[in-house]
Amino acid sequence: MDFASMCCSAMAFLLFIVLCTKISRARTRRRTSHHQLPPSVNGIALLRLLPAIFKKGIPAVMNDLYIKYGSVFTASLFGASITLLIGPEVTAHFFQGLDSEISHGNMFEFTVPMFGKGIAYGRDMATRNEQKRFNVEAVLKPSRLTSHVSIMLQEVESYFSKWGKEGIVDLKVELERLLMLITSRCLLGKEVREDMFDEVNTLFGELGNGLNMISFLYPYLPTPACRRRDRARIRLTEILSNVVVSRKRSGRVEEDTLQRLMDSRYKDGRSTTVEEVVALIIALVFGGKHTSSHTSTWTGARLLSHPTVLKAAIEEQERITQKYKDNELDYNSFLEMVTLHCCIKEALRMHPPAPALVRKVHKSFTVQTREGKHYEIPQEHIVATPILVNNNIPYIYKDPQVYDPHRFHPDRNEDKVGGKFSYTSFGGGRHGCNGEAYAYLQIKVIWSHFLRNFELELISPFPKTDWSRYAAEPKGNLFVRYKRTA
Ligand code: HEM
Repeated sequence: MDFASMCCSAMAFLLFIVLCTKISRARTRRRTSHHQLPPSVNGIALLRLLPAIFKKGIPAVMNDLYIKYGSVFTASLFGASITLLIGPEVTAHFFQGLDSEISHGNMFEFTVPMFGKGIAYGRDMATRNEQKRFNVEAVLKPSRLTSHVSIMLQEVESYFSKWGKEGIVDLKVELERLLMLITSRCLLGKEVREDMFDEVNTLFGELGNGLNMISFLYPYLPTPACRRRDRARIRLTEILSNVVVSRKRSGRVEEDTLQRLMDSRYKDGRSTTVEEVVALIIALVFGGKHTSSHTSTWTGARLLSHPTVLKAAIEEQERITQKYKDNELDYNSFLEMVTLHCCIKEALRMHPPAPALVRKVHKSFTVQTREGKHYEIPQEHIVATPILVNNNIPYIYKDPQVYDPHRFHPDRNEDKVGGKFSYTSFGGGRHGCNGEAYAYLQIKVIWSHFLRNFELELISPFPKTDWSRYAAEPKGNLFVRYKRTA
């Protein structure tokens, strides 16, 4: 492992500790059940893992811990404790429990200066739940997705029409920009896409750069990164508020997510305010931006390193374009791209942007492991489920280290056979991702275009993972040689 990767691993390890310290401040309450507590890994044992983290990387070490201590164990360091829950047998309550029993606690406080006080962690639970409904109705409903397809196709076709007959590009950079163009058009709307794209793109970049270990722990410290983050949010709020107000004044109605949020109503009939609409749309764009672009890049890196899988994905495109002949591809045609869907899902299994999910326990509960052991998870404990390990459990995923998209094909369905919460890249249950279907759709539109129109060859070595960012991403450049086929 090179020095930079060692630093990244150390930073990620530190972030994990910082996270535990911030949210734990745990006063373990009197226990209410007679079940035993999970086995414990103490600080000295954890510090001894540092050389192994440098040598083998975080995923391998997490996996070693799982093999050694099982699916439920508590890690303690510097007075902070965190209980790990691994695999579908022990994570049902983690994902499905009521917010009054298990929730994000104060962990997402850092989002208030990023998105504003109008939403999420700036508001009470009842308002948050209603705003969650607005997100689902604005982004996830099939009718919304159907209307996005032709816009996504237009954006993708226009973007690649500017490429030459052949050349070399950094796929990571290209996909990041293309996804932001799609997002601008589908989520933020025509005004931003046509007149303010570059400024808005830069501002979202600044907002993300303001998210680091220090701002995570102390979101209001006046560091240069926090100041730039605050300036970016103020300017973004100004731009987007003007768009909302101008639509309201003129009575103009558009077909985008911003409009859906403007038209949303609370149960008492109240409309969303300009401040809430702007905060909701900033949070949605931010939540989908890096996750989708990293997944598109990983999908490319995996496909281009596996010729047999690539061939199957190209053949599927040929079949589907034959079927739809001259008609434009529509929402249903993308649903039919099962092979491509599995290629993306498998890339996400191996490279989840969020390596772990964390919650605070407000009411103690018990879990039963696959081996039949019962453990009590006491009130005030911090619990985490490492997606990285969940997605690689060998009794669910055959040869988990192998890129094998066919494992998700209807004739194998490894995750469904494994049971609910076997596949956790999008979380699940009460706080499962609101943008999953949208994310698949936009990544499919891009990769379907690539497969139908270009021959691609990976020039860079297969990328390592950069764990130091808030969303784990492919490290460095990903150079690809392209040649038009059509
Ligand atoms: C490949 C792309 C994506 C991945 C891997 C991903 C992953 C996740 C995960 C793991 C969670 C659960 C967090 C938790 O339980 O603590 C989540 C939540 C969420 N995601 Fe995504 N996401 C993606 C794309 C998107 C997109 C495109 C949008 C919006 C357009 C979006 C909006 C949201 C929202 C609003 C939540 C919060 C749900 C809640 O708390 O109730 N995501 N996402």
